[in-house]
Amino acid sequence: MPNNKEAYSTVDFDYWAYSQNLSQQEKFILETYLDKKGKTVEAGTAGGRIVLEMQKIGFTSLYGFDYVPEFIEQAKQRDTTNSISFTVGDATALNYDDGFFDQIIYLQQIICCIEDDLGRLTALKEAYRILRKGGTAIFSFLNFEHRSRKPLYLPYLIYLQTLRKIGNSQWSLQYVPRLKLGGKLNLNSLVDQQPYMYWYKLEEAYQSLKAANFDIVGISSDGQLSQEKMHLSLETLRQEPIKGMLYFICKK
Ligand SMILES: C[S@@+](CC[C@H](N)C(=O)[O-])C[C@H]1O[C@@H](n2cnc3c(N)ncnc32)[C@H](O)[C@@H]1O
Repeated sequence: MPNNKEAYSTVDFDYWAYSQNLSQQEKFILETYLDKKGKTVEAGTAGGRIVLEMQKIGFTSLYGFDYVPEFIEQAKQRDTTNSISFTVGDATALNYDDGFFDQIIYLQQIICCIEDDLGRLTALKEAYRILRKGGTAIFSFLNFEHRSRKPLYLPYLIYLQTLRKIGNSQWSLQYVPRLKLGGKLNLNSLVDQQPYMYWYKLEEAYQSLKAANFDIVGISSDGQLSQEKMHLSLETLRQEPIKGMLYFICKK
C-alpha cells in the first residue's frame, strides 16, 4: 500500500465513506468557535460526516473537499438536501478563491496524511489563503509526544527505529505506519510498511501554524477538550497533562 491516498481509496474507503456522528470534542469545538451562518469548509471531508452533522445542528453555508473523487460522490449522495457544496480537491493546491471562507475546518488529521514536510506547510498556507481576514480556522494534529509515552507504543517505536536503522531508511520516527486500516489492525505496520501518518510534536505544530501566518487563539488536547476547556497559550497548556490529539483555534 504505497500512500494514504491509495489507502483511503481502497481498504480505508468504507470506514470513512459511511461514518456518522460527531465526537463530544468535535461538537464542542464546532459549536463554541464557529458561527452557524458563516461560509464554512471541511478539508478532507470523505463521506461528509462532519459537514452533514453540522447541517443537522443548524450550519447553513457548508462546503467540503477531498482528494478521493469516490468520497465526494458518496458525500453528495448522503446530502439529501443537496445544499452542501462538495468538490474534489487537494489540500496542497485548492481551487477556491483567496479569502473565500469565513471558517475552515481541518479536523481528523488531514494535515498528518501528507507525507512530506513541504506538502504539509503548503497545505497550511493554502488553508490560510482560502480564509478571509478575521476568519476562524480549526486544526487538529496527531500528537507524537503523548503517543510515544504510552507503555505499549514506546516498544513499538524502538522496534521501528531499529528496523529503519538496519534498512538504512531515511524516514524520521514521526512518520508512523497506520496501525489500523478500515477500522481493523494493520499487520503490515509490524514490518514498517506505508502508508505513514506524520505525528506532530506540540511545539512543532504550533510553529507550523505560525509559519503559515495564523494567529493562534486557542490550544488544547483531547484531555482538555473532554472537559470543554481551551487554553489561550502554549505555556498554560504545558502545565497540564497533554493527552490525545492536539487542537488549535486560529485567526487570520
Ligand atoms: C481520517 S479521514 C477523515 C474524514 C472526515 N474528515 C471525517 O472526519 O469523517 C481523512 C480524509 O482526508 C482526506 N485527505 C487526506 N489528505 C488529503 C489532501 N491532501 N487533500 C484532500 N483530502 C485529503 C482523505 O481522503 C480522507 O478522506
